[in-house]
Amino acid sequence: MELTLRLEKPEDFRAVEELTREAFWDVYAPGCSEHFVLHQLRNLPAFVPELDFVALSDGHIVGHIVYSRAKIVQNDGSAREVLTFGPISVLPSLQGKGIGSRLIQETLRILRDKEFPAVVILGEPAYYHRFGFVSAEQYQVSYSDGSNFDAFMLRETKENAMKGITGTFFLDPVFFVDEAALESYDATFPPREKHVTDTQLK
Ligand SMILES: CC(C)(COP(=O)(O)OP(=O)(O)OC[C@H]1O[C@@H](n2cnc3c(N)ncnc32)[C@H](O)[C@@H]1OP(=O)(O)O)[C@@H](O)C(=O)NCCC(=O)NCCS
Repeated sequence: MELTLRLEKPEDFRAVEELTREAFWDVYAPGCSEHFVLHQLRNLPAFVPELDFVALSDGHIVGHIVYSRAKIVQNDGSAREVLTFGPISVLPSLQGKGIGSRLIQETLRILRDKEFPAVVILGEPAYYHRFGFVSAEQYQVSYSDGSNFDAFMLRETKENAMKGITGTFFLDPVFFVDEAALESYDATFPPREKHVTDTQLK
């Protein structure tokens, strides 16, 4: 499969939101909210357009990654801007073929020349360790509620970029979704049944 990566364009927006809905539907919860997060994120200062990439195969969008600005608040109250990525989506029928890896690796490479010291993510450790993400605890960075857990990971953009930076991580509020707003946005897509599954409950 030949894969091309390019920046997302405004005319892709709806197709990418459909892809995001397809990729996330019922995966972590009944239905999903990630397409709505993406829809709102593009209008916010946290959005990083130069890292908003789609993957194309045969001219069709089959994958997408988006980054946003987040922060680490240090003990002295000062804030350091870092990045997070997500939602990252690959068309379900094409998952497991390296598309997600290409999107992550190519954007992480671009990031080496940017001023952000780290990318901080919440995700599946078994997947993200291969890209150099490690537990954020190793950098004395805790999640917004003060906790640390395996799924909370960090990767320096350059060696020693996190030197002297420790504290508490905060995502942009766009990730905390208003259920009523999500429902009315989701109603603009074809109706789809939500399911509770065993894997969501893990
Ligand atoms: C997660 C996702 C972006 C990965 O993209 P992809 O193109 O399918 O992944 P790749 O082909 O690059 O990598 C495949 C490998 O990752 C593993 N992998 C993919 N998703 C995984 C997950 N959620 N948990 C653990 N491992 C995962 C596969 O088992 C496979 O492992 P292997 O190389 O050891 O065989 C894609 O599966 C997806 O869109 N999933 C639904 C939405 C989602 O969960 N997004 C991420 C939220 S954190």
